[in-house]
Amino acid sequence: MKNIVLTGFMGSGKTTIGKLIAEKLKIDLVDTDSEIIKEFGLTIDRIFEIYGEKKFRECERKVIERVSKLENVVISTGGGVVLEPENIRLLRENGVIYFLYASPDTILKRLKDDNSRPLLKNGDKLSNIIRLLNLRMPFYKNCDFEINTDILTPELVAEKIISIH
Ligand code: S3P
Repeated sequence: MKNIVLTGFMGSGKTTIGKLIAEKLKIDLVDTDSEIIKEFGLTIDRIFEIYGEKKFRECERKVIERVSKLENVVISTGGGVVLEPENIRLLRENGVIYFLYASPDTILKRLKDDNSRPLLKNGDKLSNIIRLLNLRMPFYKNCDFEINTDILTPELVAEKIISIH
């Protein structure tokens, strides 16, 4: 089976849905953010603070190179992975890429009390979400399938992806 690759903005449910799919299909889940955290031995927030976004993206690329070689797994990616066309190319070699869409209001609701996302920290959270989501939509639209998570429970999104795959 080709890998199931989940992309989408922060708070779109990639990790939750990834876990459900992996449980249902009895396959492994690989989370790129968790792999980066392991490499640095630091939280994402601290990585950004100490090393900056550029170093984070370099490590993210190395992780993508490694995990895209796996087979028969679910890969949950960080929300910015799509910004590098090379990441998408690598992930597509062994996988099908699913874009989980969530509207700015939904994202805000889900991340209201979350302070672990460095890119949403400074200034008004909703404005940051809208600005970044608008910038990224053309990249997310390059994925193979789009699923709107606003109107479906994580279980239903997981079922839908499994049925498409
Ligand atoms: C990022 C999303 C985060 C994490 C980092 C950068 C982004 O992952 O990789 O904070 O650029 O959108 P999640 O999408 O899992 O929150």
